Amino acid sequence: MEDNPMICNIATNEIERLKIMVNKCDYKESSAIPLIHRYFEETSESSILKAETKVAPSIVKEIKNHEEFIELRFKKENNNLTLVEALEKRHSERAYLSRNVSFEDLSYIIHYSYGIKKFLSYAYNVKNYPVRYSPSAGGLQPFDLYLFVNNVDGLKQGTYYYHPLKNGIYLIDSGNKRIILRRILKVYFPVFASVIFVIVANINRVTWKYGERAYRFLNLDAGILAENICLLSTSVSLGSCMLAAYDNKAIKEELDLTEHEEPMLLISIGKTI
Ligand SMILES: Cc1cc2nc3c(=O)[nH]c(=O)nc-3n(C[C@H](O)[C@H](O)[C@H](O)COP(=O)(O)O)c2cc1C
Repeated sequence: MEDNPMICNIATNEIERLKIMVNKCDYKESSAIPLIHRYFEETSESSILKAETKVAPSIVKEIKNHEEFIELRFKKENNNLTLVEALEKRHSERAYLSRNVSFEDLSYIIHYSYGIKKFLSYAYNVKNYPVRYSPSAGGLQPFDLYLFVNNVDGLKQGTYYYHPLKNGIYLIDSGNKRIILRRILKVYFPVFASVIFVIVANINRVTWKYGERAYRFLNLDAGILAENICLLSTSVSLGSCMLAAYDNKAIKEELDLTEHEEPMLLISIGKTI
């Protein structure tokens, strides 16, 4: 797969148009959301059709520096919960014990949420095109999964990146991340979680096919992945909570993200009483 050099640049005059739309709105009476929603709807059929002639960008990020690589290790038969039981049991957990999560449970959650389920022989002019456990618009799988690890059996504390093709995690920055998490998060409780997932969108992986409409798909796809992470956590008796209360700029700085990478949602997981 080739890297897509395209950078998502909304022209300055378009940003100005958006600002005018937003400023016109009085939130007591109305909101700019219907206008913004329609703005992101505007992608012509022809640009979608042209996607068939293009080569899909790579679904993995090139990690230049890392300290360690650890392959995921898990068993398929990890629990006895049915899907309905997991749906009933899942709730947003905001109190975590300072006990370690097992690496097998963490591996299981990562693999069955955003791991590769199978390969298509050919798609988007790419041979052996991967398909993940969580669906995404056009099968474009736009996210990179990062993890802040506080306490997991056998893992050093630090920041990790999940590599789907190798089905393992790279330790990209070791050390206690709790102080950094305190700065990044606008709520306190996730600082005590064992792991915090960060779903990061690579915008270029979607705009080449969907144009500005991709923004809507990124939000939808992030919700699907996040719920799968939460249900899998429940199924191995771990608590979880989705987190939108974070400082976007601080996360981008901490993970050294580029202008076409945006954090979409965080999820804390850990043992509970
Ligand atoms: C997109 C999204 C973002 C959320 N962000 C936060 C958050 O920042 N902090 C928090 O405590 N809960 C957060 N939640 C959890 C919701 O408050 C919770 O799902 C809701 O109150 C329903 O409760 P339940 O998850 O226990 O069923 C978020 C949930 C979603 C779906």
